[in-house]
Amino acid sequence: MSVFEIGGGRPLEGTVAVHGAKNSVLPVLAATLLARGEVAVDNCPRLTDVDAALDILTHLGCRVKREGDRVIVDPRQVCRWDIPPEKMRAMRSSVIFLGPLLARLGRAELSYPGGCELGPRPIDLHLKAVRALGALVTEEDGALRCTGENLTGGQIRLTLPSVGATENAMLSACGAVGTTTIHNAAREPEIVDLQRFLNAIGGRVEGAGGSVIQVEGGGPLYGGAFSVMGDRMAAATWLCAGAAAGGDVTVTGVDYRHVSTVTAALAEAGCRVSSTPSSVRLRRLPERPLEAIAPVSTAPYPGFPTDAQAPLMGALARSRGTTIFVENMFASRYRHVPELVRMGAHIQVEGRLAVVQGVETLTGARLVAGDLRGGAALVVAALGAKGKSTLTGLEHVDRGYQDMDRVLRTLGADILRRDETELAACAAGKLEEELDGIRTTPQTT
Ligand code: UD1
Repeated sequence: MSVFEIGGGRPLEGTVAVHGAKNSVLPVLAATLLARGEVAVDNCPRLTDVDAALDILTHLGCRVKREGDRVIVDPRQVCRWDIPPEKMRAMRSSVIFLGPLLARLGRAELSYPGGCELGPRPIDLHLKAVRALGALVTEEDGALRCTGENLTGGQIRLTLPSVGATENAMLSACGAVGTTTIHNAAREPEIVDLQRFLNAIGGRVEGAGGSVIQVEGGGPLYGGAFSVMGDRMAAATWLCAGAAAGGDVTVTGVDYRHVSTVTAALAEAGCRVSSTPSSVRLRRLPERPLEAIAPVSTAPYPGFPTDAQAPLMGALARSRGTTIFVENMFASRYRHVPELVRMGAHIQVEGRLAVVQGVETLTGARLVAGDLRGGAALVVAALGAKGKSTLTGLEHVDRGYQDMDRVLRTLGADILRRDETELAACAAGKLEEELDGIRTTPQTT
């Protein structure tokens, strides 16, 4: 178990570059299965979710190696189509391998990704998409068996613009002969990045970024090189941290348009925000408190991202006035709220609503991260709080942020990561000190 020790109240200052986007690199890595040659993926972040994806690729028969920020996948020897339950459980987006396995091998055996971090995360739309191309799917005791030797292009109509289902639809369509049209597709920038990748290895995909995507499938896909887009959620998190602690923070390597709803909210809260096409700068005088803003309602892109809801709440917990959050994407995405309340925040949750009555001061506390972005929210709040906080549950944070503590230290934050051995040594030292105390205290009986 590792722990963050965070000293609050230090303004942040400086420039940080964001790492490659988790939500882009995961489908891209799954998509390497489609290639008939080596694929080099640059700007590949070091995240435990990425490790889990590489582990699945290796299990399936790919040769995988990492050279710094570059990961090279050679999928020519792919020989398996099953992903064991423990590998499925290691990462929630493991279901994204369904489409590429069907397209490449005509079959896939998976289990449900499992868990319930944000409430139920069904995969009915993923299954509907591959069925629309002719795949047969049977479900038995949590195991999914899919066959689709002769996938054929067709019409996929998503009832919700699900990001994962859109990706699975695009990936399976690459192996389906003829034209596939995906209606009501998700429009997230990561979908555009996936299209860019598929076309870079010889695919014929168009329309990503809009609601209708067309894939000409069945043609060969080759090896190639690709660089993953910058992580807009990491960028949003560093900007929220700057807003919470005050200071002058510049984030580079992110398309400013990808975070415009977040920067608009932070500007409304009183921060000065300026952008170039690939960077965003945020300034807030530490003595000037954040102001409450109009209701923040999460929605599919280009709406306010559900992934930024928690970090923004972490900042606005300390503000003047009341801000209402409406979480429309996931049923259970307020797990950070009880922890913020332990710091002195006034927040009430009623179903999908969270009413944040800003307080003047938050106080450091012992905190536990219950999910990835919730963990980020607690770090954001702790940086703006009075006194020291500790945060455990870092396995969630490590899924999506590369070296979070190092990045924040670059900005001058007082944050340290202590790992298990250090903590054990500390605890042993403390015990030794206590024993010394007992040995030197004169016995009075
Ligand atoms: C992706 C992102 C995640 C982000 C989310 C919403 C990745 C790896 N993860 O997750 O960070 O929070 O988009 O922007 O890219 N749904 C169904 N049936 C399905 C699939 C989804 O009902 O078959 C529902 C979900 O329960 C949820 C909504 O659709 O309410 C959106 O989910 P989806 O867009 O699929 O999210 P993910 O792809 O899982």
